[in-house]
Amino acid sequence: MTLTDFDLVLFGSTGDLAMRKLIPAMLARDTAKDFPATARIICVGRNNWSQEEFIRTLNLHAKPHIKVTCLAAGTWEKFCARIQYVALDATDATTYGPLIAALRTDPAISRVFYLATPSQIFSKICQNLASHNLATAHSRVVLEKPLGNDLQSAKHINNKVSQVFSESQIYRIDHYLGKETVQNLLALRFGNVLFEPLWRREWISDVQITIAEQLGVGSRMEYYDNSGALRDMLQNHLLQLLCIVAMEPPVSIEPDAVRDAKLQVLQSLKRYTPTMLAKNVVRGQYRAGHIEGVPVPGYRDEENAPNDSTTETFVALKAEINNWRWAGVPFYLRTGKRMTQSLAEIVVRFKNIPHSIFAQSTNSFQPNCLVIRLQPDEGLRMHLMAKTPGDGMRLKPTELELDFRASFKTPRMEAYERLLLDVLRGQLTLFMRRDELEAAWEWVEPILEYWEQEDSDPIPYTAGTWGPAAASALVGRDGLQWREEALPED
Ligand code: BG6
Repeated sequence: MTLTDFDLVLFGSTGDLAMRKLIPAMLARDTAKDFPATARIICVGRNNWSQEEFIRTLNLHAKPHIKVTCLAAGTWEKFCARIQYVALDATDATTYGPLIAALRTDPAISRVFYLATPSQIFSKICQNLASHNLATAHSRVVLEKPLGNDLQSAKHINNKVSQVFSESQIYRIDHYLGKETVQNLLALRFGNVLFEPLWRREWISDVQITIAEQLGVGSRMEYYDNSGALRDMLQNHLLQLLCIVAMEPPVSIEPDAVRDAKLQVLQSLKRYTPTMLAKNVVRGQYRAGHIEGVPVPGYRDEENAPNDSTTETFVALKAEINNWRWAGVPFYLRTGKRMTQSLAEIVVRFKNIPHSIFAQSTNSFQPNCLVIRLQPDEGLRMHLMAKTPGDGMRLKPTELELDFRASFKTPRMEAYERLLLDVLRGQLTLFMRRDELEAAWEWVEPILEYWEQEDSDPIPYTAGTWGPAAASALVGRDGLQWREEALPED
């Protein structure tokens, strides 16, 4: 679909996210010729920079993150020509003059306000846009995660933003929903007849969702230390993945159909009581260790880290969904920084065969298992039992593999590229609705409260490992193990 002409206003344009993800995503879509010739990107920042100074900063901090294919002769220069840097204090309405002057007034031109700033100032920015009549009925606003710090602050921000924008104009972004494999999971579940009859408590024993990162906190300490793994990753990315795995078939791919189905999952999550929390949630914090042989400091020794910080860099938990499809099936979620591998995957383990007709006992059968890999490689792997060649009936585990890169030669899109196009097209399916976001906060709230009251620190784990031993014990108690297979060498 061709995009209509637009003015995209990027608040927080000098920040880490803009440099690492947003600007590169915009350039990629521009290079792919998705942007109309006259579309413009208005980059807003507090620094009193000239246009040249801002472009110089982009050269320094955004260019290293750009795909090589986007650096053909002239593409960068052409992209920079779309950009206009506007210096203002987003929280101070009296400084908005240059933005007002920069925006085009033709109502046929879409206006998108992308708020890549801390969420504490979303309300203020929206108010300021409204006070200058910049938020028209056809404008859209994109809100970056984490939206709020808890349920109350999330509600407050949502209330304020909704005084200016209607729900259909609000795009709450979770970039995991823009990942190719997440959408492929929708294709797998609802584009094939094979899985749906098995996708339930009768056949599935447990589900594991892991997002592990080798990276530490880097330059984001100020944000991260006030956030931690639960708010930064679990409340949004992991719960969204859980929703896609567990939701009922939506009636269509239309935004509200998909969001209704996801909301039901969040509302069906079993609420934790304090006793359950102690047993079912593990938090950890990394200490010095080695990542691929290279020594790395502990969290408290990272630059700008408080040396008594109790912020968790790892969280693992067991969740349960109280509905007919999933009652009794544990969903284990875990995420951490400075782990042994960078890996994101969903593992759906089926039940074991009820009876063996072979000489082997049922215990020697590995239950079927579907591994949906989001990164580093993208693909699906179905673990099956098969006969080994030759005489006799000896069965061994084997795999059916679908490697998306090898199977589809079409160029890939980064999550942010796809979501950006969706915003510009007005397609809301992959964005969170207000009630979904609040339901997710509501579910994690007891964990936050429990940690606040609890008189202990996160469990230390050595950087370069899979996290604290208590996380293995969490699944071990149910007779299970996390799937921790070494990734193939490149
Ligand atoms: C972000 C978190 O939302 O997701 C980061 O704030 C995290 O802390 C990042 O590193 C992970 O995203 P990806 O796409 O690199 O797995």
